[in-house]
Amino acid sequence: MQVDIQLLPVPPIPSLLSTRAIVVIDVLRATSVIVHAISQGALEIIPVATVEEAFQMAKNFPQGATLLGGERGSKKIKGFDLGNSPREYIAERVMGKRVILTTTNGTKAFHSVSSGREVAAGSFFNIGATAKWCLDLNRDILLFPSGDGGRFSLEDTICGGMLIDQVIKIGGKPVALTDSAQSAHILYQRFENNLIEAFHVSCHGKDLVTKGFEDDLAYCAQIDITDIVPTFRDGVIRAHLAPSLSPGACLPVGRGEGKGEGE
Ligand code: MLT
Repeated sequence: MQVDIQLLPVPPIPSLLSTRAIVVIDVLRATSVIVHAISQGALEIIPVATVEEAFQMAKNFPQGATLLGGERGSKKIKGFDLGNSPREYIAERVMGKRVILTTTNGTKAFHSVSSGREVAAGSFFNIGATAKWCLDLNRDILLFPSGDGGRFSLEDTICGGMLIDQVIKIGGKPVALTDSAQSAHILYQRFENNLIEAFHVSCHGKDLVTKGFEDDLAYCAQIDITDIVPTFRDGVIRAHLAPSLSPGACLPVGRGEGKGEGE
């Protein structure tokens, strides 16, 4: 089993995708939102690239059962139901609902890797379950940080490094790491005892603080609050429960935690 991480969010070579399992990572905040929403009972999430596409897509579904969520410039989009803070995606808002989500980087990343053999959403919230998902699949893995406007993202790479760390520790068997995976692992070890410090050092973390979303940094740094691994197939993200976990262990933890924007 080889683990690789693509340090820049450019579409990977198609031949690399077709045989690998892909984990998309956007801890601040798209994949944290996706994992949180699904763990809080959202039916499914449809990630789309543009605001226009989101409004068009919503017309295909009955009103009331579908929510529009996401951000531009990290802020809630005019006419949308929800912004892009995971604290908004609580059971009271999302249980049984479909969410059409558009964000600056994260939702586009899913479409860049849609030809992956399997595609999952990873975050600190579900890091252990995602590591088990990778191990259960037992095939080569490509971690895909969604980056920041096409640039390297410190926080996503650190999350990738933690995932690599867990795959090694939980798997207890040899894992081949590419040079980029080794680099992400080393970077994670620098911040493993203080993920929030990493968020505060990162450009996107600083930008979120400036825009009034500092509480999201501490919230998104929570580790293993759910065992759900959302997977992306045919344009839709749904819950996936790791087969090695017992049904009881799959119940979402932290239901109803936190307060969202505008509450
Ligand atoms: C993104 O997809 O770029 C983000 O999640 C941005 C954000 O939440 O501010």
